[in-house]
Amino acid sequence: MAAIGIFFGTDTGRTRKIAKLIARKLGDAAADPVNVAKAQPEDLLQYDALILGTPTYGEGALPGLDFGCQGESWHEFLPKLEGLDFSGKTVALFGLGEQEKYPDVFVDAMGTLYDQLLAGGARFVGEWSTEGYSFNASTAVEDDKFVGLALDLVTQNHLTEQRVEDWLALIRPQLLPA
Ligand SMILES: Cc1cc2nc3c(=O)[nH]c(=O)nc-3n(C[C@H](O)[C@H](O)[C@H](O)COP(=O)(O)O)c2cc1C
Repeated sequence: MAAIGIFFGTDTGRTRKIAKLIARKLGDAAADPVNVAKAQPEDLLQYDALILGTPTYGEGALPGLDFGCQGESWHEFLPKLEGLDFSGKTVALFGLGEQEKYPDVFVDAMGTLYDQLLAGGARFVGEWSTEGYSFNASTAVEDDKFVGLALDLVTQNHLTEQRVEDWLALIRPQLLPA
């Protein structure tokens, strides 16, 4: 089994695309990305190292049927993780959003994943500077940093590849056992 599990939610496919890019760059260390719409909690729990990705929908919400998405996603899946033990697990998050159109709730869904898994005992890696972004507020910011990699494929797509590359250089050694 690969060391790192990658799970994502998506509606229009961008987060899947990034999950696949991350998997490709990690090579044998990572399993094929899995859409949470098709996952069970046990699928996540079998990994000690996880990369989780989500877009934000609604106004700062997780993707899912209640927020205009075509199918179930994190909004339906995250409650299934409530109360599960994530202690001993190392988690890196990435979140997609659109800062110009949603400047007050930019990548908020990443903050929602963070809050719940933190309560479950997870250890997080991959916090990311807010420099180079333009937004007013985000629940995915703690102590002036994003809790994971924030990506805006709508207005800053030209920065995506390099951001992913730099972020992976940061988290790779923290996710893989020595
Ligand atoms: C109806 C709608 C609501 C959105 N709401 C937010 C939001 O509240 N905050 C944000 O940062 N981005 C928001 N976005 C932008 C999406 O998160 C962004 O387009 C993302 O790349 C979509 O990812 P996906 O292709 O994986 O579904 C919204 C987009 C749509 C279409």
